[in-house]
Amino acid sequence: MKLMVVGGGGREHAIIKKLKENKSVTEIYALPGNGGMADDCIPVAIGAKDIDAIVKFALEKKIDYAVVAPDDPLVLGCVDRLEEVGISSFGPRKCAAIIEGSKVFSKNLMKKYGIPTASYEVFENATEALSYIESCPIPTVIKADGLALGKGVIIATDREMARDAVRSIMEDRKFGDSGSRIVVEEFLTGPEVSVLCFTDGKSIKPMVSSMDHKRAKDGDEGLNTGGMGTVAPNPYYTPDIADRCMNEIFIPTVDAMCREDREFRGCLYFGLMITPNGPKVIEYNCRFGDPETQVVLPLLESDLLDIMMATTNQTLDKCEVKFANHSACCVIMASEGYPESYKKGYEITIDPAVKDSVYVAGAALENGKLLTNGGRVLGVVGTDETLEGAIKDAYSKVSSVHFDNAFFRRDIGKRAMKALEDSQ
Ligand code: AMP
Ligand code: GLY
Repeated sequence: MKLMVVGGGGREHAIIKKLKENKSVTEIYALPGNGGMADDCIPVAIGAKDIDAIVKFALEKKIDYAVVAPDDPLVLGCVDRLEEVGISSFGPRKCAAIIEGSKVFSKNLMKKYGIPTASYEVFENATEALSYIESCPIPTVIKADGLALGKGVIIATDREMARDAVRSIMEDRKFGDSGSRIVVEEFLTGPEVSVLCFTDGKSIKPMVSSMDHKRAKDGDEGLNTGGMGTVAPNPYYTPDIADRCMNEIFIPTVDAMCREDREFRGCLYFGLMITPNGPKVIEYNCRFGDPETQVVLPLLESDLLDIMMATTNQTLDKCEVKFANHSACCVIMASEGYPESYKKGYEITIDPAVKDSVYVAGAALENGKLLTNGGRVLGVVGTDETLEGAIKDAYSKVSSVHFDNAFFRRDIGKRAMKALEDSQ
């Protein structure tokens, strides 16, 4: 089978490595992929948002199955366009991808169907939002409606910060049209858990839970980033909590989307907070998380391609989705300066012994050399029967990967270890 994966980061590298395990796969193209994946697939210089070029390429190459991984092409309707020309694809159609594409949509969906989430107000003009902010409880959380590269959420710890957030999103249009509407919501507390689920619109099968580390520096300090590391499973996701999530959140969400005529097929990502009043939804994503995928898929024992095709064909209930009872840890190696300004073009060397555990996000091949080409350069994944072992494995592999000005957190998994110890 000829496969095509739309996207080009560490998440896509993890998907590609797993898809390759299926014996019927002969070729995998990545659009655009990156130079660091060239041993596992064929990178093609077509951007993930260039839907016309993606469809043209898929037809030319007679692609048998496509996987659309990032939010942008999904929200733009890439799966619909591929289906229109007869190419079977993994991922939600545009009408369902809106669950991530519009926070106003997802909040209203949760309210209508009684799915637990933070209470909220929606504003379409800055004057009303600013007046609301004068009397709402503080801290408060301000979210741009549309996609904003993961940066459209501001937690305002005082009223001045809340006013600034409203002005910059709605008046200065810091995130463009994504800020034409905003959600102002209740500030929740509690540990966060990510749960990625396969769903075919009828049944839903959760993957192993995970924990992201969004801040740039050790001790959860510094700026928010696209994610500096992950561990799986997440110790806060106890069997009790998992049961509640299934019954109060996962199944009701899949059913709600069907009732709205927006059947969701693909990977539905639940960003959850385990609050003192039970688990609540912080956000939905219409796709695999990055870098959650890098710790989740290495633990998957069942065949990824079979599961993906079962979600497309709506036979997921008959498909086994089994995870190893092990742990995984991913440490992101970034370029010094990320998430602000950083330099590119440093040569990357990876000891062949650890290559299979490296998921490359921002690199380019030039004259046979692999050079850094992004802020988050790559993720190194360790696995073991225990979380402690997985963390050790990841950091020992990190020492076999080099590039100048590399920077990474040294405490990925520390919070999860403490939670494990506290629960014993
Ligand atoms: P998001 O982009 O929706 O994932 O939000 C980014 C981060 O903001 C989340 O991972 C949470 O840590 C935090 N966050 C979002 N909504 C809330 C909320 N209602 N209460 C507290 N923290 C929140
Ligand atoms: N790691 C969070 C996300 O993929 O949105």
